[in-house]
Parts: sequence; C-alpha cells; structure tokens
Amino acid sequence: MSASPSAIESVLIENRVFPPSDRMVQAARISGMQGYEALRAEADRDFDGFWARMARENLQWSKPFTRVLDESGAPFYKWFEDGELNASANCLDRHMGTPVENKTAVIFEADDGKVTHYTYRDLLTRVSQFANALKAHGVNKGDRVLIYMPMGVEGLVAMQACARIGATHSVVFGGFSAKAVQERIVDAQAVAVVTANYQVRGGKELPLKAIVDDGLAMGGCECVKNVFVFERTATACNMVQGRDKTFAQALQGQSSECAPTPVGAEHPLFILYTSGSTGKPKGVQHSTGGYLLWARLTMQWSFDLKPEDVFWCTADIGWVTGHTYVVYGPLAAGGTQIIFEGIPTYPHAGRFWQMIERHKCSVFYTAPTAIRSLIKAADSDEKVHPKNWDLSRLRVLGSVGEPINPEAWMWYYRNVGGERCPVVDTWWQTETGGHIINPLPGATPMVPGSCTLPLPGIYTAVVDETGQEMPNGSGGMLVITRPWPSMIRTIWNDPERFKKTYFPEEMRGAYLAGDGAVRDKVTGYFRVTGRIDDVLNVSGHRMGTMEIESALVAKSDIVAEAAVVGRPDDLTGEAICAFVVLKRPRPMGDEARQIAKELRDWVAKEIGPIAKPKDIRFGDNLPKTRSGKIMRRLLRSLAKGETITQDTSTLENPAILDQLSENN
Ligand code: WT7
Repeated sequence: MSASPSAIESVLIENRVFPPSDRMVQAARISGMQGYEALRAEADRDFDGFWARMARENLQWSKPFTRVLDESGAPFYKWFEDGELNASANCLDRHMGTPVENKTAVIFEADDGKVTHYTYRDLLTRVSQFANALKAHGVNKGDRVLIYMPMGVEGLVAMQACARIGATHSVVFGGFSAKAVQERIVDAQAVAVVTANYQVRGGKELPLKAIVDDGLAMGGCECVKNVFVFERTATACNMVQGRDKTFAQALQGQSSECAPTPVGAEHPLFILYTSGSTGKPKGVQHSTGGYLLWARLTMQWSFDLKPEDVFWCTADIGWVTGHTYVVYGPLAAGGTQIIFEGIPTYPHAGRFWQMIERHKCSVFYTAPTAIRSLIKAADSDEKVHPKNWDLSRLRVLGSVGEPINPEAWMWYYRNVGGERCPVVDTWWQTETGGHIINPLPGATPMVPGSCTLPLPGIYTAVVDETGQEMPNGSGGMLVITRPWPSMIRTIWNDPERFKKTYFPEEMRGAYLAGDGAVRDKVTGYFRVTGRIDDVLNVSGHRMGTMEIESALVAKSDIVAEAAVVGRPDDLTGEAICAFVVLKRPRPMGDEARQIAKELRDWVAKEIGPIAKPKDIRFGDNLPKTRSGKIMRRLLRSLAKGETITQDTSTLENPAILDQLSENN
C-alpha cells in the first residue's frame, strides 16, 4: 500500500475531511472545537495554573503539592515535586466505596478463548497480596524489578504491586532475547525478576523462564536475589532452589491488605528501554505524578472514556502503549477494559472483530500494522471480514505506533467503525509517556493520515536544524516546545545522553522528538512523516539500525562489516535491510541463502525475532566515501530497488553496487 503510486498520490493530495457527528460532539467531555480551544486558552493564559487544576482534580494526593513546574534544573524538569501520592492507590484504592469497586476492571480473554472477569476489588486484593510477597522477599521502595511476562492480568498485577511499594518496574517485552533481558537487568541493577514458565500465543507454548535463566547465566546479574514464576501452563520449567519461587509459593500466607507506600511525585514509577541511534538501548525513566496524571487525562480526552465504555488497547504491556493504556490509564480512569493474551490471526484473522462483538467493545485502540494485515486477510477470505460480526457498540477507534496510511485509515473508518466512529490517530513516543498530537473524538475534524493538533497544554512545532520554526507546508523536525507532566525525566544511568539526545543546543530548549513532520498550509494540522534518525519503525516497533549492526558484527567468526537501513514495506511500514561483508569471499546461491538464514537466527538470538533483517545482501565491500564513511543514502536507494542516479564517482569500487542489489 504505502509503496504504490496511488497511495503516495493520496497522501500528497489528501483533502478529505471528516468532522465528528453532532451526536458525538454533544456527548463528548471536550465538546467541539470551542471546548478544545477553551482548554488551550486556559493553558496559554496560566500554564502552571492549568496543570495544577488538572493534577488536583484528577489525582489523589496523600500530601498535596505546593509547586507545579520547577524549571531550575532544565532540561531535568520537575513537576508537582513536593507532593506525595501512590500510583496503585490512584488506580485501585480510589475506587473503593464508589460504584466502581465492584465494576469489571478487566475482561481477560485467553489464547484459547476462555474468559475471566476481574472487578476493581479483585485487582486490589491481588495487587496487595503480590505487593506483600515482594516486601517479604526484601524488595524495597526504590528497588528495580524486571518484569518479563505474557500478556495477562498477572503482568498488570506485578506492575501495580511494584508501584504500590514504591519499587520501580522495568518491563521487557516477551519477544526479546536472553541477552536483552540480561543487559536490562545489569543496567537497572534489578533485585528481582517476575516471569512465567511459558507464554501461550497462537496455540503454542513458548518458554519465558528458560530465557530468563539464560540471561541470568550470562553474568553481571548477581543483583537478582529472587525470581517469581507465574505458572501459566502445567508444563514444568527449571527452578533454582533459594532463588526461584512460583507465584503460589510466594503468595502463600500473604495478607490481601497492603497499605500503599506514598512516594514523591518525581519518584521513578518505571524504566522502559527503547532503541535509539546508538547500539545501546536507552532506559527511559518516567515519574509517578506527572505520568499518571497524563495517563488518566488522555483516557478521558483522547478516547472520551465514559463509565459504560468497554475499552480495548491491543498493545502488549512490554511497550509503553501497554503501560499507559492498559496498566495505568484505564484503571486510573475507572474504566472496563479487555486484555487479550493471543494474536490477531489465531485461530482466524477475524479474532479481533469477534472479540469486539463478544465483549461489546466500544473504544478500540490498535496499530496500523495490525489493521493492514487484517485488511489483507479480509481481502483474501470473506469469512474474516469485519462485516461478519456485530461491531455496532464501537464508538471511538484509535491508531498508534506509526503513521497510518490514508487507505488503511479509510478501511478502518468504513469497515470497522461503520463510518460513525472517529479515528483517533495518536502521535506519541515512549519518551512522552502518553498522547501528544491527536484529534479529539468530539471536537477535531479528521483528515486521514494526519494526527491533527496537539492536546491542550501541549505545545508542538516543526523547525529547521537551527530550531527556527518552518512555515506551514514545509517539512522539518518535530519538537515539543514546552515541558509537559508525563515527559521522560532522564535516561537511567546516563543524564548526559538524555540532554544530548532530546535537548541539543540548536533546539533552544525544545524537546527534539526524532521525527520529521509537516504542517498543513491551511489547517496547521501536523502530519508525521517518520524518523529522521537511525531508528526504524517495523510493525510499530522501534529498532535502532546500530543495534542490529552491532548484533551482526558480533558474529565475528564470519562477519567483517555490516550496515543496516530501512525500506518501505506494505505490511510492516518499514522493513530491515542488512548489507553484509563477510570475512570470506562473497557467497552466492545456496551458500548465500544458508548464511543469510544463519545471520537472521543470530540476530533473533541477540535481540529478538522482531529484529530479524528481511533482506540480507552480501558484497565484497560497502559503498564508502574516500574518508571511509558508509554512504547510507546509496544503501537506502539500493534497499528500495531504485536505480542509482546519484554521483558515484567517489566510490572505490562502483561494481559493488551491483553485488549489493541482490537479495538473499
Ligand atoms: C515512534 C515512537 C506511540 C507509542 C508506541 C510507539 C512513531 C508513533 C505515530 C503516529 C506517526 C508515529 C514515531 C515515534 N509513531 N505513533 N500516530 N503517527 N508516527 O512508541 O516505540 O517509542 O515509538 O513511533 O516515529 O517517534 P515508540
């Protein structure tokens, strides 16, 4: 889709506008553009006053704050610093004694279709018990706990339990490798790991505990004193005496009451590792107060969440979307949400639509990649087309993770939303903690492919390399010009990298997002065009090219040099393309295919299957300038299959361009 000429055309001349229906506008919390403008004006008039009002009205503070924003240590901003609160209390305890106490908090659907409902009271009991188990095993306020769990209620409970005792969680997505687990344990100096024996996806049991064991064995993990193992299946796994215990063992005899530990608003709620433009992932550190405020507010603003809604965010808890819009936002807002263990294509590609019908889902939030793959499935098999299910309860749709191409937007709007549901295209990042630019379902006229305008209290701009604002219609770099409560506080263990990456001097104090963007000439709407650094977005997952290159050259017995670039892909948005020079003569035919497979498996082991290069090309060398710099622009053209029109006279050996255009 994204590559076809018609698609490119429709992005360029996109002029369809979809205003929200009158009904939507009337019923919405932020009603119409006047409602939006009024909030914006309030923030313009009195920035601190606006955020103070939001924080007082939306969170329960055990000690009220007296200061709002402290800019004295910029860019290390502090919000509500002298206030104290507990995130878990703000998600669970606050609802006790209200009608929400016995409301369903989570509708869990397992891979095999079995459904379990949990009320807010149930969750509070489980979280408290688990919090007591953590304490009993010596986990204290300020300690880090690594969580490597399947999609399910137990992962949410583990995260909330950490928050309850003031421990900082660091969740690692269940698709990452043993090495990724080990690196994160070492960097965060985690004292405990919470995992499961297996995870179940698509009818298969996949090991988790065995991967943790491998990671711990790689060294440097002496900090880990306890490993808690949720027994998701009846299959046995290795247990190390003294270190490992099952959930049943750990929870045995623990009280179901645990007073939440108050923490300062700036206390690190979590660290979440994400890829950057160097080989080493960054531990993005988030706060408690500002983060939670935005998690709750954006549930109410972006999704217009109402008490009777059934919300479903399909993201895994291993990504920031799963943190903010599964574990914290929906609970802080007192909503009912669906949590799904499995994959969208099992046992058939109509599973999402079937679940929307079954659980009467009214607000659905997923990624463009999922939509594109389900379009493809529905095109080739009528039986899995959304029209086969009753989706009439849906009222708001959301999109996240990558730019949504207008074709996918239109299909989603028509075939899933029945042309009655606004499509909220949310632009944000791990670093922003929550939504930054998106339409409001009861206010903003939507344009397919545009995330439209920043939320009230958020200030964004498109600038050039010197930080100068670009005129509308001209592309540039996306920046956030004022601090916001849920912003990244620092990179764990690396404040210098934090400053250099996000607040480079040229940007004059603005936060540099790393994305390219352009604003519409007439409406001023933002359209995000993709990363401008060495970061790829593959199926909505962030991957650093350097990270993959480091993994490839780590196979030092055969690899001499590697360069990785992205190329457009119809399904995954971007695909990973690796150019490799071996320590032996350039392989061809079967041998080349064999080595390419070996390298893919190697990358899967080093980072995770999501980092496997789709294309691998071998050459005797890489295209370099005389000074030895790899000409990445040439590689990007080769990856796309374009004929090289650039000047190649500076190349040592232009013949390698032919070699490198061959895919294995
Ligand atoms: C990068 C952040 C957003 C949480 C999940 C991913 C891209 C994200 C959009 C969107 C265009 C988007 C950007 C951003 N991105 N949402 N609606 N339109 N691009 O979080 O892993 O930190 O990735 O995803 O390139 O920088 P992440």
